[in-house]
Formats: sequence, structure tokens, C-alpha cells
Amino acid sequence: MDVLVADTNREGVQLRRALSATQLTALGIGAMIGAGIFASVGSAAAGGSEHIGAGPAVAISFVLVAVTCGFAALCYAEFAALVPVAGSAYTYAYATLGEVIAWIIGWDLILEYAIGNVAVAISWSGYLQELLRSFGWEWPVWLGVDWRTAQQAAAQVAQAAGNPDLLAALDPSTLRYADALTNAPHLFGLPLVLNLPAALVTVGITWVLVRGIRESARFNTTMVIVKLVIIAFFVVLGAFYIKPENWHPFAPHGLKGISSAAAIIFFAYIGFDAISTTAEEARNPQRDMPRSIIASLIVCAVIYVVVALVLTGMAKWDTLTSTEPLAAVFSNLGMQWAAAIIAVGAVVATTSVLFVFQIGQTRIFFSMARDGLLPGWAAKVHPRFRTPHVTTILTGIFVAGFSAVSNLDEMLELTNIGTLFAFVLVAVGVVVLRRREPDRPRPFRTPWVPVVPLLAVLSCTYLMVSLPSRTWVRFVVWLAIGLVIYLLYGRKRSRLALAEGARVS
Ligand code: ALA
Repeated sequence: MDVLVADTNREGVQLRRALSATQLTALGIGAMIGAGIFASVGSAAAGGSEHIGAGPAVAISFVLVAVTCGFAALCYAEFAALVPVAGSAYTYAYATLGEVIAWIIGWDLILEYAIGNVAVAISWSGYLQELLRSFGWEWPVWLGVDWRTAQQAAAQVAQAAGNPDLLAALDPSTLRYADALTNAPHLFGLPLVLNLPAALVTVGITWVLVRGIRESARFNTTMVIVKLVIIAFFVVLGAFYIKPENWHPFAPHGLKGISSAAAIIFFAYIGFDAISTTAEEARNPQRDMPRSIIASLIVCAVIYVVVALVLTGMAKWDTLTSTEPLAAVFSNLGMQWAAAIIAVGAVVATTSVLFVFQIGQTRIFFSMARDGLLPGWAAKVHPRFRTPHVTTILTGIFVAGFSAVSNLDEMLELTNIGTLFAFVLVAVGVVVLRRREPDRPRPFRTPWVPVVPLLAVLSCTYLMVSLPSRTWVRFVVWLAIGLVIYLLYGRKRSRLALAEGARVS
């Protein structure tokens, strides 16, 4: 662990320490408030094809997931203060559980950060198209959706064909997407369908990030302020339209509905842990890391519960099926102007989520490269901007490429399982390190160890098993690919392996 911390001061691989506690908290909030609250809260309340809804009690789901994340956050806080090194959970695993587990978690974190960003970029593109539509401008559908979604929509429309009732019940976006395959230009007989805005926004964010962490953090703080103002706008205006009878029954599907919704809205909380990836760029990581992780989690939990209560108070829970529920409740009241403002908020909110996740992923790759688990050129820092530009650009290409062609739901599920797995390993790491090095001075101590880490492990595992089996299959395949890469590359090339080799010879 001491070597890892000393490494951060090595010439040529040093990041700029520029972030204050407020900026760090803003990073956490920036990472959290996004697609989760602007989109999935509706389906969590109303239910969907594969889950039952919580009804107004989705507010309780938000509280329960906040508590789950709170256990994990307390574990992250201990590590972030103890090992203020860029790699977050990857670095903590490296320090406590050894190189193989560290590699596995680093590989797993690609699911949280890069794949998570693919999901957010797709959802960003959806909101942008909604916003353009509210100004009467229709984005070409074949350039705004992925091939699989278009294909699924076409299949749904084909199934409903000839049955006016079924056709009328389809979501307007399904009808639009179904057209994508026929409208698209064809290349070698295949329809050319891709989500261009999702790819473009990622390219833009990558450009900003290469330019420098200080400029990036300022840009982020501005976006966080805008989205908080728009959320406040929703709450204050919405409060005038609450009908208390909409809150009855409060929990139409009881505990089952509440926990099923919890597995979905977990996505809304992903991000507080991203703060820890910037530990090397914090001015005072020992003091500010724990504070900002916990502060951002509490701020978001309060916001989510209030938004959930206002939303389910404004409309009957089972009507909240739109993918833009916060805007839809206003347009259903005939207030298009308010819906457009909310849509702007959603675009800004998802932009800042993209931004923080992109930072997180590049810092993790950067740490892995510095440890020799990835090629050394990936750890290069730009001579002028002092940012890890190589990993930033590579991550940008990866995320932009995948977001142009991927399906939102599949990416969301993978993100959730990958993140939960990381939380579990971090909690285990806290207990392991307490046993192994009980006397190491800890600027922040997770309370009630091992109870809190154990509760983190249990509650995260509960959410993991609530995810569909196909997600598990993909997750295991992903980890297996990672292990093969480790065996072929990292095991021989890592700095630990090289040091070992030097000792033997
Ligand atoms: N928490 C982030 C969001 O809701 C991932 O978009």
C-alpha cells in the first residue's frame, strides 16, 4: 500500500491536485443524478414487462437503496482516505486482496464506468431527441437508435398489425423506432442504423477531459447547479399539482413491489463511488474523500425521495409508464413549457453523469497501466494538460463506438451487476485490511466493522440476485475474458511480477 501511495508522486505519472471538497461533492452529485431519476423512476413506480411496480412506495425503495449504498459508501470512505490513489476499488483490491482480484475488479469496473456510460449516452440521446421534438424538429430515426431496439420495435409493431387496440396501446417511441429499419439507407443490403448523438456526445466529453481536470471540474460544477435548479423547479411546481388521493394505496404490491423497484433504481445511486477515482487530484484527500462521498449520497437520497413523492402525488402510479416521467406528468397537464424545461434538465443531468464516469474509467485504466497490468504507454500524462490523455482518448473511442450500436436495457443491467460486485469486494477489502494491518492509521474508519461491511455485502448480493439470469451469464463471460487476458498479459508483465523476477535472478 505504501508503494502504491508513493507511486502517485513518481515523475511523469503525476496528476494535478486541484479539486476542493465542494468540487468533489459536486462530482458525486454529478455522477448520481441522471438517467436513474429522470427515466427509470417511472417504470419503477408503475412496473414493466419484467418487474412489478412499487407505486408511491418507490420513495421507500429509494430509502432502502440509499441505506445499502450507505453501507458501501462507508467502506469506500475508509479506503479513499487511506489509499488516496486514482484507481478506486481497483486500487483497494490491489492493496488488500492481491493482484489477481485487483485485475478482476479493474476489469469489472469497466462494466460500471465505460458500459454505464454507454447506457447514459444512449439515454442522453433519447432526451435530446425528445427536446428537439418539443421544438418541432424530428431527428432522423435511423440515426438515433441502435439496430436491436429498432428490430424489437419492428417486431412489436408487426405483432400488433391488424389489431387497432394493440397498435394504439404501443408507446409512440416504439412506432417511431419501428420505422428506422425501413427508412435507413442500406449498405450491402443491410440497413444502416446507429445512435449518432450518443456517440457524438461522448466524443465531445472526451475532448473536454483531455484539456484538463481543472477546467473539467468547473464545467461539471456548472452542470450540477443547473440540474439541481431544474430538479427544484420540478419539485416546487409539481407540489402545486399533488393530489393526496394518488398516494393511496401507497404500496400497491407491498414489499415485493418495493424490492423489485429497488433493483431498478439502484442505477440512480451509482456514482458516489466515482469520487474516489479522483483521489489523486484532490487537494486534501484524507479529509475530503470521506466527507464528499457521504455528503453527495445523502443529498441525492433526499432529492430522490422528494422527487418520487411529488411525482407519484401528481399522477396515479400506474400511469407513469413513460421513459420521461418527470416531463410527461407536466405535458399530460397541458404544460408543454414545463415539460421542455424538464427535458433540458435531463440532457444536462445525463451530460454531467457521462462526464464523471468518463473521468472514473480513465483514472482506473491509468492506475492499472501504472501497475503494469495494462501496457505502460496507457499511463502517460499529457505534458501540458497533465491529464492521462491516452486512456481518456481510448475510453472515448470505446464508449462512443458501443453507444452507437448498443441496447439500453442490456447495458443498464450489466452496469448494475458490475457495480454491485465492486461494492461487495470493497466491503470485503475493509475487513481483510483491518485484520491484516490493524494498527495502520486510518484518517476515516468505517463504523462497526465487521457489521457494516457485512451488511454491505448482504444487501448488495440481494440486489445482484434480483437481476435476470441473462445478466449473470454476460457478467460471468465478461469476467472469464478478463481472466484470460490477465493470464496472457498482466501476470507476466505486472510490476509485481517483474519485481519478483528480479529478486529470483
Ligand atoms: N446514477 C447515474 C444515473 O442515474 C448512473 O444516470
